[in-house]
Order: sequence, then C-alpha cells, then structure tokens
Amino acid sequence: MDRRTFLATGSLAATASVLPGAGTAAQSVRDERLFQRIDFTSDGLGLDPHEYASRLQAMAGRDGFLADNYSLGGEVAKVEQAFARLLGKPAAMFVATGTLANLLAVRRLAGDDRRVLVQAESHLYNDSGDGAQLLGGLNLVPLAPGQATLPLTEVRDWVERSRSGRVRNDVGVVSIETPVRRRDHTAADFGELERVSRYARAEGIRLHLDGARLFALPQHSGQPLQAYTALFDTVYVSLWKHFNAASGAILAGSEDFIDGLSHERRMFGGALPAAWPQLALVEESAARFQVDYAESWRVADALLGILEASGRFRARRLGDGSVRFYLSVAGTDPAGFVQRIRQRGIRMAMPVPGTGEIPMQVNATLLRAAPDDLARRFMDALHA
Ligand SMILES: Cc1ncc(COP(=O)(O)O)c(C=O)c1O
Repeated sequence: MDRRTFLATGSLAATASVLPGAGTAAQSVRDERLFQRIDFTSDGLGLDPHEYASRLQAMAGRDGFLADNYSLGGEVAKVEQAFARLLGKPAAMFVATGTLANLLAVRRLAGDDRRVLVQAESHLYNDSGDGAQLLGGLNLVPLAPGQATLPLTEVRDWVERSRSGRVRNDVGVVSIETPVRRRDHTAADFGELERVSRYARAEGIRLHLDGARLFALPQHSGQPLQAYTALFDTVYVSLWKHFNAASGAILAGSEDFIDGLSHERRMFGGALPAAWPQLALVEESAARFQVDYAESWRVADALLGILEASGRFRARRLGDGSVRFYLSVAGTDPAGFVQRIRQRGIRMAMPVPGTGEIPMQVNATLLRAAPDDLARRFMDALHA
C-alpha cells in the first residue's frame, strides 16, 4: 500500500471489508471514515482500534510476516535489525515499554557503579515510579531542574563529588533524554551533548540516550540521527510514539550489551508471548517517518500562514526541536472552538487553563488534507 493510501484515503475500506462484521451499510459508512481524522494530539497517526485492526490485517497477510515466540524471532527480529541499522548500532532488542527499556539500559550499564546522573526533567526520574532505584538498586541524581540541557559543568561537579565522598561511590552512567517531554519536547543542546559524551568517555562513564522521540530531531537540528546515537552506548526509541505500534520500544547498543539481555527483559516480566501484533506497523512507519515528518511541518507552516493572516489565530512556535507549537484563538472561547473543530474531523487537546493556548503536535495526519481545506475548517469552527 502506498504512502497516500495509508495516510490519506478511505480506501482502507478494501482492507477493512475482510474483517468480521464487514458488509453492513453501517459498517461501510464507518469504513469510509477510516484514516480521515487530522489529529493534533498524537505523536504518530493516533490510529483508533478499527484503523489499527485493518492495517494489522494487511501487514500480517504479507509474505514473510512471521510470529515471534516470547518476543524472539519473526517480525520482532526484523524490526530489531531495521532499528539497529537506522540507529547505527550493532544490535537491538524489542522491549514491551520504554519505561522498561530505560531501566534495563541503565541497570546493565551501571554494573557496580550505581550512581546515575539524569536530568531532573527526565521521564526516568519523574515518570518511572522510581523503578531504577527500587528495581535496579541505582541512585539517580537529578540535575539541571527546569532545563532540557544537562550542562557539562554539573556532570563534572557530580562525578568529582562522587569520587571524593567518605565512601567512594562512582558515577556509572549519564542518562540523557532528548527531546525532553516535560519541556514541551524541546531538545538538549547538541554541542553540550557532544561535550558531555566526550568527558564521560574519557572518565570511563557509560552513556544512555532516552530518545523516545529522537527521529523528530534531525528535521529541526540538521544533525543526522546517527550523530546523536554515536554519542551514547545505548539508545532507546519508542515504537508507539512515532511509528504506530500498539506499544513497545527498541533498545540498541553493542553486540555485547544486547547479548543475553532478553533474560533480564523476561525477569522483569517484559517478554510478551506474542509481540507481533504490537509492532506489525512499525517497519513501514519507520521507513518513511522522516520524509513524512518534514512534509507535515510544511503543511503546518502553510496552515499557520493562512490562519495568522486572518488575524484570528496566533501561533507560538517553540523551536529547539519540538514537535509542538501552541495556538491561540481570538474572539471565541477556545474550549468551545476545540469542541466545534472536532466535529469537522480535527482533533485537538483542550486549551491550557489560564493561558487558553492549545498545544498542537505535528504529525503525518496533517498530510490527509490540503492547507487551505484545513484552514477553512479552522475558520468555520470559530462560529458556534
Ligand atoms: C521521554 C520518554 N521516555 C520514556 C517513556 C516511556 O515509554 P512507555 O510509555 O513506552 O513506557 C516516555 C513515554 O511517555 C517518554 O515520553
């Protein structure tokens, strides 16, 4: 199936019609609406269950699509190899969630040096239930609160302090997230990443990258994907954020690092008996993500040009590698606007309380309509 068909048309009815329950008039009306929604809340296509099932049906029917066994082999192995190549690492392993991928990475990288430096804003520090501390026996040191970038000066201070304690307790790992979800997905400064990486390597400290949304960065920074991954020993990328998996993550690193790691995955309860339904859409989505993402921003820019010229909308662009911008709407209640535009096939998050700004994520659902068609729906939704 070509790109336009996947992204933009209702002809998925052809695929969907082989699903159980197809064939009724109500069903065919629903099928025609598949893959039409413009979704400003999602990292990927934000597929609903019916859309996901119809793509799964198509992908699983392809020659060479094979089931895995407890997350080993079959389609899982294909995705692992594809991501090892894309990320420029010798090996990669599927993990059921990014939360577990980060834990497996820092736990194995740390070894006996159990102090791990992280950004205070990172998912690993805030949103993993202290799993690294409780399940990994690690001591996470949160640095640079409020910032996306972890400065070398703070890293160096903590490495030196850790060495000079009454009980010596070396830093084993520096773990960095970029882009940073809690900073509106803005990116850590690339030059500082290089400096931290150079320093850590000289000191024998291992480096992990939480690159859940890493594939968006090259479009903004001009740095190729592998310029980032080369700075780190291990890299995690999410499969469900940009690549339309039902869930899952890839953890990539050296052959040595990945070798035997599937036992730890299983130990933590993360070996799905059948992972193929989770990641059946991933290879296809990953192969075209960067082209589609660049094109999606061209549509977003054209749309914002029309909207801002109307005098009724204002965009606050974040820069710094973010997949997000904020939209303000004048002369109407923004929450009502969000409700009305949903009825015109455009999904948006609710406005931020206090500011009324609407957070908008850029993704390939924007390729399902022309900018002037989108702009017309925005203008229509101004009126109750
Ligand atoms: C930056 C970052 N790291 C890790 C995760 C965890 O991923 P998962 O939800 O697959 O466990 C997330 C998920 O929101 C994230 O945004």
